[in-house]
Amino acid sequence: MIILGIDTSCDDTCAAIVENGKKLLSNVINSQLIVHHQYGGVVPELASREHIRNIVPVVRESLRKPGLSNKDIDAIAVTVGPGLIGALLVGIYFAKAFGYANNIPLIGVNHLEGHILSIFLEKKSPPFPFVALTVSGGHTNLYHVRNFGDYTVLGQTLDDAAGEAFDKIAKLLELGYPGGPVIEKLAVTGRPEAIDFPRAYLSKDSLDFSFSGLKTAVALYVRKWRDQKTSENKIKIADIAASFQVAVVDILINKVFAAATQVGANSVMLAGGVARNNHLRSELQKKMTKEGIDLYISSPEFCTDNGAMIAVAGYHRIIKGERDDLTLDARSRFPLDQI
Ligand code: KG4
Ligand code: ZN
Repeated sequence: MIILGIDTSCDDTCAAIVENGKKLLSNVINSQLIVHHQYGGVVPELASREHIRNIVPVVRESLRKPGLSNKDIDAIAVTVGPGLIGALLVGIYFAKAFGYANNIPLIGVNHLEGHILSIFLEKKSPPFPFVALTVSGGHTNLYHVRNFGDYTVLGQTLDDAAGEAFDKIAKLLELGYPGGPVIEKLAVTGRPEAIDFPRAYLSKDSLDFSFSGLKTAVALYVRKWRDQKTSENKIKIADIAASFQVAVVDILINKVFAAATQVGANSVMLAGGVARNNHLRSELQKKMTKEGIDLYISSPEFCTDNGAMIAVAGYHRIIKGERDDLTLDARSRFPLDQI
């Protein structure tokens, strides 16, 4: 079964073609980075307009690459939420039209389910049950994944998402958008022990996250640091980046391990834009190896938003006989256990 997967939930226009929920035939992403960079974050109205401009060429490219035409597609899967409503609607209306015109099934997909199932595009995927951490600009969630379609939310952020914290700190340091990659690059030359930023672990046994205290602590620190900035100041911007990054990574690792312990899982998977962070990947790998837990991380191209993960999630719903009709609508908030 060949599925076309569409994701327009945020600032990337994504289309991909996946066979039998596993084999990637194409994966096309049109990034809007240049459009949003100057604003230090995603501007929803501009994102919608860009999706309208890009959706048809992106889908055409996804078909052209493997030499397919519309009639080779057996079903179309599209993200319905969570995400920016205007942006989501572009993908949804495209998918409805494509499904109707080609007389193929349409299935709406939760974006977070897509992130979790992105791991099934890899050669090695975890056995059920496992713990999943989806960590990006819009979400920081821990799940107990028992099977395809069977998820329990174990924890989530009470305020900012981890990627959002990277983006806000980068904005504060005038490093542009998105913040994650540039902070990671700076942190390589910085000292992670230079500043002891706070780590919020919340109450004992809590699997929730909170990054707003850390963000405020960094903001206050930067204000003071700017006032005292002289060539003799021993703290460099790279030290701030490294100390901030290590605080985020410590929190994520602590919670992932606590979640795996609480549910007794032997496997953990990591996905979402922040999962591209090499410091997080290597430190989490060290911790999991030490604790005897198998770690699965999506490859960088499947960590950030993409249509392939939506095609995988759509496949597992379609083969169960699920279908959506033309009343399919966007959902800005869409907790995964409310599917
Ligand atoms: O999954 P994604 O592409 O889109 C959302 O659904 O949000 O994630 C984007 C987020 C941004 O906040 C970006 O700063 C962060 O992922 N990110 C990173 C890295 N690369 C992207 N954060 C930390 N380190 C990175 N290398
Ligand atoms: Zn995402």
